[in-house]
Amino acid sequence: MSEFPAVLANGFNAIADDLVVRGWSMQPQLLPAELGLALEAQCRQLWQADALTPAAIGRGSDEQVVPDVRGDYTRWLDDCPDHPATADFLGFMAGLRLALNRTLFLGLDTFECHFALYPPGAGYSKHMDRFQDNPLRTVSVVAYLNSQWQPGDGGELRLHLPEGVRDVDPVAGTVAVFLSDSILHEVLPSRCERASLTGWFRRRPDNPLLR
Ligand code: OGA
Ligand code: MN
Repeated sequence: MSEFPAVLANGFNAIADDLVVRGWSMQPQLLPAELGLALEAQCRQLWQADALTPAAIGRGSDEQVVPDVRGDYTRWLDDCPDHPATADFLGFMAGLRLALNRTLFLGLDTFECHFALYPPGAGYSKHMDRFQDNPLRTVSVVAYLNSQWQPGDGGELRLHLPEGVRDVDPVAGTVAVFLSDSILHEVLPSRCERASLTGWFRRRPDNPLLR
């Protein structure tokens, strides 16, 4: 990973190790602070400008907005104005993708990603990220952008694991990574405006390793 500082390369390799051993990883302070602040500002500006739309559940003709199940507002990155911070973030994610491919041979090919804002009271009920009709989502990544987050603010990511639940604080700099088809998770109701970037590494449709 010569193009990334050693600290990032170490973080990416730690994620790969965790994914093999237990299917999920949580890395505090992985996203560089300055980049996190720039992305947080962009996410909050989009929210204030009414440029985020209520997230839907289901697919195709079943798609519907059900705020009791999923209360966040999102915008896909490729639908956002070009911005140096989002370009840097995509470079960061390309580094993680290459590190995972090099170590785990996952054949991750593309990255789809959206800003998400959970207003006070919003959460996302227990779910899995891989849709039955779309087997390509392989690794889920959430980068948290809440520089002011405090215990008691809510909005933790709750992972449902064989050994019990594990909560991840949505504090700026933390990056959570997990296998899209096997880790059940939810977002606990947030008491503040909770900002994040959520994305998925996808495998190629013709990947012969696809199950
Ligand atoms: C999702 C999701 C988790 C989080 O958007 O599918 O589970 O912590 N997000 O934001
Ligand atoms: Mn999810």
